[in-house]
Amino acid sequence: MNNREKWGSRFGFILAASGSAVGLGNIWKYPHMAGENGGGAFTIVYLICILVVGLPIVVSEFVLGRKTQLSPVGAFTSLAPNSNWKWVGMLGVSSAFIILSFYGVVGGWTLKYTFISLMGGFNELSGNPDLSGSLFSSFIAKPFSPIFWQILFMVLTIFVIVQGVKGGIEKWTKIMMPTILIILAILVIRGLTLPNGTQALDFLFKPKFEDLTASSIVLALGHAFFTLSLGMGTMITYGSYLRSDQNLLTSALWIILLDTAIAMMAGIAIFATVFAMGADPGSGPGLIFVVLPTIFPNIAGGAIWGTLFFFLLFMAALTSAISILEVITAYFIDEKGWSRAKATIIFGSFVTVVGIFCSLSMGSLNITSFMNMSFFDVLDYLSSKYMLPIVGMLTGIFVLYQWGIPELINELRIGMKNDNFNENTSIISGINIGIVLKILFIISASVIGFILINEIIANITGSPIIG
Ligand code: PFF
Repeated sequence: MNNREKWGSRFGFILAASGSAVGLGNIWKYPHMAGENGGGAFTIVYLICILVVGLPIVVSEFVLGRKTQLSPVGAFTSLAPNSNWKWVGMLGVSSAFIILSFYGVVGGWTLKYTFISLMGGFNELSGNPDLSGSLFSSFIAKPFSPIFWQILFMVLTIFVIVQGVKGGIEKWTKIMMPTILIILAILVIRGLTLPNGTQALDFLFKPKFEDLTASSIVLALGHAFFTLSLGMGTMITYGSYLRSDQNLLTSALWIILLDTAIAMMAGIAIFATVFAMGADPGSGPGLIFVVLPTIFPNIAGGAIWGTLFFFLLFMAALTSAISILEVITAYFIDEKGWSRAKATIIFGSFVTVVGIFCSLSMGSLNITSFMNMSFFDVLDYLSSKYMLPIVGMLTGIFVLYQWGIPELINELRIGMKNDNFNENTSIISGINIGIVLKILFIISASVIGFILINEIIANITGSPIIG
């Protein structure tokens, strides 16, 4: 156990974990979700979800990993031997496999768009969203081109992981995360200084409670979960490479802060450009791959801004993909005794092959008609609507009823450098931390449980309880 690989520094760990959290979810999903669901009102709900529902699970995952020094399956097995809890870990590893299959496909699209922009390919799309839309749909439906870019993206992911925790994941995220922040800061400044750019601030942050529906609240909850990379054992795995001298609570807060700040900065950069160029801010998921390429050519130095933007999106996707593949690699190292290179190359290739079918299902091959969705959408739907919340909720229940809040507090205390911190420590007169944590975990697990039931009922009866 002692020769387990370790992070080189606390800073490296925080950057790697926030690299996992910051991904397509922040730059692709959050901006248009916030814009369409009440701006600031959505952001307030989203922040509450992150703090109340997300934070307890992030902390639990870190603690479970650091305590056991094992990846999810081993972590649950070692704290609850001979029980069925190991299946929660197995479900996490399976989700990693499924998510990476389609995440890798979108990762490939980001590379292709970086390349198009670099070659000046957005020029012909200037001011023509119809042309841009048909170019995008015909690209993702092609049999070979998207697969080529997906394979390249997956090869890069495998390349980083094979080099190990400190020499690969930490080294590369230490380069990529600051680069992401710098590029984003440049794009924010550039956007806000364009004429009308500041309208983006109103659009994103002015609370419009009339646009906030029950379904936006459900959306905010689901997204809080996805954006923090929860419910898959990623944070258990990253936590397992920690030495015991870290304050896990402040680390978790740092990661949440970075994740949220980057989502908001991406929103500002994107909408400032959209408003300045008079494009349609309500174009939903197509905003990034369809609308942005039509407006970059109109800004001075557009090819540079476009290339920087898609390169930023690519790096954000890569740091997340790395964390997903690491869950699978760590499982085969810990549980099957495989070498890092063997586990990564074999399973990285396996995931790539499944991803090829996802990509083909976007047009070339009619693989499935399950609920009238493409294979790509089925995998996305199953993992983000069911598998991640189920594992997240069970992790909360595990800490509450199997392992126990006092154990969690004992483990949290290590690294806090505060020996007086225990379950009876009172935070406000008469209210002790043990009780507060218990309530927080009960709320967190129940809210996730409710979202799951809501989704199941929506599927069976056609109308959800809320949403
Ligand atoms: N958090 C990533 C994003 O926002 O794009 C996605 C993700 C990564 C989900 C890792 C789950 C995971 F384990």
